[in-house]
Amino acid sequence: MEKKRFYITTPIYYPSDKLHIGHTYCTVATDVIARYKRLRGYDVMFLTGTDEHGQKIEDKAREAGVTPKAYVDNIVEGPGGVLDLWKLMNISNDRFIRTTDEYHVSAIQKIFRKMYDNGDIYKGTYKGKYCKPCESFWTESQLKDGCCPDCGRPVTDAEEEAYFFRLSKYADRIQDLLENTDFLEPRSRVNEMVNNFIKPGLEDLCVSRTSFTWGIPVDFDPKHVVYVWVDALSNYITALGYENDRYDDYESYWPGVNIVGKEIVRFHSIIWPAMLMSLGEPLPKKVFGHGWLLLDGGKMSKSKGNVVDPYILAERFGVDALRFFLMRTFPFGTDGNFSNELLIQTINTDLANDLGNLVSRTTAMVDKYFGGTLPSEQRADSAMDGELTAMAAGLRARYEEAMERYAPHKAIDEVFKVVQRANKYIDENMPWALAKNPEDQPRLACVLYNLLEATRVCGILLTPFMPASCEGLFTQIGAGADARSWDSAAVWGALPKAVTVSRGESLFPRVDMEKALEELERIQEETRRDALPALEIEPQLEEKVDFDTFCKSDFRAVKVKDCQRVKKSDKLLKFTLDDGTGIDRQILSGIAKWYAPEDLIGKTLVAIVNLPPRKMMGQESQGMLISAVHTEKGEECLNLLMVDDKIPAGAKLC
Ligand code: ME8
Repeated sequence: MEKKRFYITTPIYYPSDKLHIGHTYCTVATDVIARYKRLRGYDVMFLTGTDEHGQKIEDKAREAGVTPKAYVDNIVEGPGGVLDLWKLMNISNDRFIRTTDEYHVSAIQKIFRKMYDNGDIYKGTYKGKYCKPCESFWTESQLKDGCCPDCGRPVTDAEEEAYFFRLSKYADRIQDLLENTDFLEPRSRVNEMVNNFIKPGLEDLCVSRTSFTWGIPVDFDPKHVVYVWVDALSNYITALGYENDRYDDYESYWPGVNIVGKEIVRFHSIIWPAMLMSLGEPLPKKVFGHGWLLLDGGKMSKSKGNVVDPYILAERFGVDALRFFLMRTFPFGTDGNFSNELLIQTINTDLANDLGNLVSRTTAMVDKYFGGTLPSEQRADSAMDGELTAMAAGLRARYEEAMERYAPHKAIDEVFKVVQRANKYIDENMPWALAKNPEDQPRLACVLYNLLEATRVCGILLTPFMPASCEGLFTQIGAGADARSWDSAAVWGALPKAVTVSRGESLFPRVDMEKALEELERIQEETRRDALPALEIEPQLEEKVDFDTFCKSDFRAVKVKDCQRVKKSDKLLKFTLDDGTGIDRQILSGIAKWYAPEDLIGKTLVAIVNLPPRKMMGQESQGMLISAVHTEKGEECLNLLMVDDKIPAGAKLC
């Protein structure tokens, strides 16, 4: 039988800057849904990509002194760029579209012409208010306090010859679509669209620009470039092969589900269906508008300088822990406040305490009481077992119901109710007491089997959220391929009675909240410092220090006894130093990018030794090594200050 198909997309992000945790949130959520559908046996197409045209990118590239294409290439394909981020986050997209891809460019020209030929695009003059950061034109009545209603920034008067799309023609059909179908979810977004945009009267939309050139030219009037939203929205179909030969999947996968953030619901639920109506193509099955991750109650944005870097969090806490946190904590349709504390708390409570402990306690007991393999002779006790087994057996249905309505947070919640019930079941049954009585061996075996089974079912359903960790979980509890499938998640008893466990490393280590917060603060401070433009740093060089203050700094010659990389850090080297006191001094220095540790052993360096000790990556640093800093080809370079090896350790520099 042919598999059922499912097509899902994220927005295509602007590569105007590095992506942040907000983009990661949306992409992880979409990935979770795609993985869930695959787990259920669907043939899934999952698309993400980048939206690379428009004035904002043109301006950014000019500022950087490069061509727009070179600018976006770096952000998309360069180190630490979009592709790297999705790889790091274990995103399982099947396709990645860039709107500068040739096949997309020519498809857009055909789409534009098609709408022109059928009379839905016409030439006129545009007079209006333009918000540059949002690339949006607004009418006077749509402005909020004279500013852009989306981002609140000032708008400018704009007038130009332009092509218009007859959006007004589709107003009634769109209103009907929004009000009378479940095309747009959550439902709360429907009223917002209808009341704010449709009821005041949908005006025709300006769909070409002549004020800049970084876009797709209208092929029959090339001084115009296609409006970036017409270019961007069409990606969902061009990436399947619509109006191009690059792919041949349009018939198979369209229509699909578009997952987008709430601020771009307007484009996806009004302009996008109208374009498809004009083209005579099917409408998306659904547009889901998720909420924002807020920081200190406000939206994160690069320009406000308050973005959270997913790289730092994933490297420090693990990709799966971060994925889990994002999906567990913030109800998908509404806004939520991000904080590092909340992240660590979620890791410690749900992952380390509840799930991690369940796995490690259960496998440890199977090891301890039965040498790793349960005996087949097991004694059930319906009064003691009934609640857990019933809860676990019904879990898949409750989970499915939540996932089908795009409520991954609710699905996790259902899983964790079972995890918590299983932990309670351990306390109720007291395996350690059963172990004391040889007659209770079959009962003990049954209790442990039930725990493994409950864990297995939870593991299957958590796989879309934490794919790598769940693999580890299955290995530890002895679940083979058959016992990891969607079908087996609704079956109680898929593990063989005589299952063999293999204890492994802790799946979710506990995080020391205080240490981790300090560390994050330091890293974030460093990153902020790195990001400061040179001009803002310069005045500090002018600042004067009085002589007495200078004399208080204790600089010493130190000899490197040992030098090693710090685990999980790309930057830090750990030095063991002879400072002449006879007691080794440990200093951590962010110099790993420029030196191999073995090359430094035996060298004589300079350190300031009377700074208060500081923790970095959980280790104490007792001072700071002095380096010369300069910039080469736009990159910062550090050179450790090395002095003559004849100078003894501990010699004071003054
Ligand atoms: O709008 N919280 O691209 P974009 C949650 N190119 N999600 C967030 C977020 C936050 N703080 N910040 C960003 C564009 N997002 C267009 C899209 S689609 C045809 C064109 C997510 O780079 C959220 O999904 O500004 C939002 O809609 C998207 O990133 C916007 O990304």
